[in-house]
Amino acid sequence: MTEKLTVPLIALRDIVLFPGAIEPLLIGRTKSVNAVCKTYEEQSDILVVTQKDPSIDEINANDLYNVGTIGHIHNFMKLNDGTVKVLIKGLYRVSIDNISDEDDIIKASYTKLQNKSRNSKMLEGLKRALISAFEQFYKYNKKLPQDVLNMISNIDDPSQTCDMIASYLPLKMSEQQEILELVNVKKRIEKLIFIIESQTELFLVEKKIKSRVRKQVEKSQKEYYLNEQLKAINRELGNSEEQPDEIKELKHKIKSLPMSKEASNKALQELNRLKNIPNFSQESVVIKNYIDWLIGIPWSQSKEELSMEYAEEMLNKHHYGLDKIKDRILEYIAVYKRTKKVKSQILCFVGPPGVGKTSLGKSIADAMKRPFARISLGGVTDEAEIRGHRRTYVGAMPGRLIQTMKRSSVTNPIIMLDEIDKLGSDPESALLEVLDPEQNSTFTDNYLEVQYDLSKVIFIATANSFDISLPLLDRMEVIQLNGYTEEEKLKIAKDFIIPKQIEENGLKNNEIKFDDNAILNIVRYYTMESGVRNLERKISKITRKVVRKLVSSGSEENQTITITADSLQEYLGIKKYNQDIVSREPTVGVVNGLAWTETGGDVLTIEALKIPGTGQLLTTGKLGEVMQESMKAAYSFVKSQYQVLKIEEEDLSKYDIHVHVPEGAVPKDGPSAGITICTAIVSAFTSKKPRSDVAMTGEITLVGKVLPIGGLREKLLAARRNGINNILIPKDNEKDIDELPNILKNDLNIKCVKHINEVLQTVLI
Ligand SMILES: Nc1ncnc2c1ncn2[C@@H]1O[C@H](COP(=O)(O)OP(=O)(O)OP(=O)(O)O)[C@@H](O)[C@H]1O
Ligand SMILES: [Mg+2]
Repeated sequence: MTEKLTVPLIALRDIVLFPGAIEPLLIGRTKSVNAVCKTYEEQSDILVVTQKDPSIDEINANDLYNVGTIGHIHNFMKLNDGTVKVLIKGLYRVSIDNISDEDDIIKASYTKLQNKSRNSKMLEGLKRALISAFEQFYKYNKKLPQDVLNMISNIDDPSQTCDMIASYLPLKMSEQQEILELVNVKKRIEKLIFIIESQTELFLVEKKIKSRVRKQVEKSQKEYYLNEQLKAINRELGNSEEQPDEIKELKHKIKSLPMSKEASNKALQELNRLKNIPNFSQESVVIKNYIDWLIGIPWSQSKEELSMEYAEEMLNKHHYGLDKIKDRILEYIAVYKRTKKVKSQILCFVGPPGVGKTSLGKSIADAMKRPFARISLGGVTDEAEIRGHRRTYVGAMPGRLIQTMKRSSVTNPIIMLDEIDKLGSDPESALLEVLDPEQNSTFTDNYLEVQYDLSKVIFIATANSFDISLPLLDRMEVIQLNGYTEEEKLKIAKDFIIPKQIEENGLKNNEIKFDDNAILNIVRYYTMESGVRNLERKISKITRKVVRKLVSSGSEENQTITITADSLQEYLGIKKYNQDIVSREPTVGVVNGLAWTETGGDVLTIEALKIPGTGQLLTTGKLGEVMQESMKAAYSFVKSQYQVLKIEEEDLSKYDIHVHVPEGAVPKDGPSAGITICTAIVSAFTSKKPRSDVAMTGEITLVGKVLPIGGLREKLLAARRNGINNILIPKDNEKDIDELPNILKNDLNIKCVKHINEVLQTVLI
């Protein structure tokens, strides 16, 4: 049976007394002091219970938990201020039945709570688990003396073990109370194990974080310490302390430059950061680098004095011919001189390699007395190459534009955007912004972060083909440069390339002479190009060899070495190209066409072969879509006109036609091979040989009409280079003949045709 007794009660604010535990307590509240005095005197029991809210002073029954502990006072000491120090041992847990407040003391009646426990084996197991969890916990938290652990492991009763451990653990008050209230020993132990394990885990995490933080602190302390030592060593050696001076200098520089307000603020702000960072640290290097960029890019423009005479002189000094283009450039400069604005169109030079696009750009810069810088856009696929990487990237740098600006050192250079046709589509939008006069005064580079004014820059673009995106094309005025004729190349060599090479190689004017024939033979047999770049290389090679000859023979007297057509082999080896292709035997199915490519014009041989089959068309030779369609159209035309063309009807279904365009590695496209293909097919069917001294160009329709083509000049130059003088062109291109150089008009036998039949009549013999 449960017993009901009434005993004095004390309320504890923030601790729970467990059965078995001995707690030192300081009692202050009068009623509690009375309670302990009475109990100590009578050596009777006292009920110790915890209050729910530790801040309450005057307690009611409702403020207390319902389960408490009967305790026995072991030690008692009254202090001067009226408080009492006691040592209380907990005996057993009780539930409170009734509380009576008797003015000077609180009393309560209670019922003793019996531990509920059945399976003693299982409890024993749980007890061990509890002890080992507790030991584990204290391994990391070594505040507890070893003898406590010993004492605990010597307790037999699992319930007592549990209560003892609970009293030693730093638990929250509510957790302590919860454990006290659990009369089921199994549940109590399980609860405690759970609490201990989660605390251990928390503790481990905390420890890990602490050690990481410590390591970091140690590292920066070490850096700081080393830096301080370095400074001390420098002082000892008499080296002045670097940092303050450097910062002063940077500050002075920032203030003295005509930077934009935004940029100078940014620079000063970064400088402030730099002051507070140990010198030589990674971060200080990054910041210094950044400030160096802000200071290093140009903030002022070069003085400008434009003279039209001087400009014209400069343009003529470096380039032969190109009259129309030079005129356009002079107009451009004149307008600029008047308006002082570069908001006009951006010039874009389009033409085959080596015709002087880049060098013209340089001459314009000379003419305007401005620094010249080049950006090669070929193969640029990433916007960051134009606009830079954010500073957060390791090794970040500004993009090519800002880099180029720095190189040119003024805000108004001439920047040549080379190979704009080879630019990837990703960086295009950045370039559009750069070229837009409305936007480029506030250009932002990702690295620089501040706006930079590009509006005073004159941009000139170059490209080999018109394969430029429309938005870009829209911003530019295209100026086309064409390939040169042999005669033009001869002039360029004599008046520009040779004098330049003589000077560059330290020769005197009379030490080397080139025969006209020698030059022409270099053009014909050692180069195959629209421009003059290889010609320049060959002449340079010869000049170098001549210099070597003169130097090693030690001749001081005025010796002249003359380069003749015959001596070329000695300097350049055997001929690379054989122009006498005309002597090639006429062959059934093989016809000379003319093609236009990025590198200028070219002779394109087309072959057609009749093979047993079922009337199919086979095509090979790395052909583009348009060219393949041309082949189909030509084939259909031939089939539909077999009677007129004198082809046996049954041959059409008995044979396949295979059309091939040799040099398979070079991609070919465009419609202008139409009449050539058609001629080759007809030749294959009829076994008539085509003339090999004729070349042709023209698109063909399904009914055999010949349509006009582009790139006439380049194509004719190529024919002439290859020694083919009879040319068939579409009637609609007749108007272009006027514009051709006289040499082409005079040397070539050009015939204009309207229908394929005229072609076939001329070519097939
Ligand atoms: N009309 C000319 N008069 C004198 N020299 C010329 C002329 N055209 C080209 N050259 C010379 O030919 C060389 C090659 O010219 P440049 O580098 O300007 O060619 P480019 O058109 O830019 O070629 P690419 O498309 O390959 O860049 C230069 O040394 C240049 O001086
Ligand atoms: Mg170039």
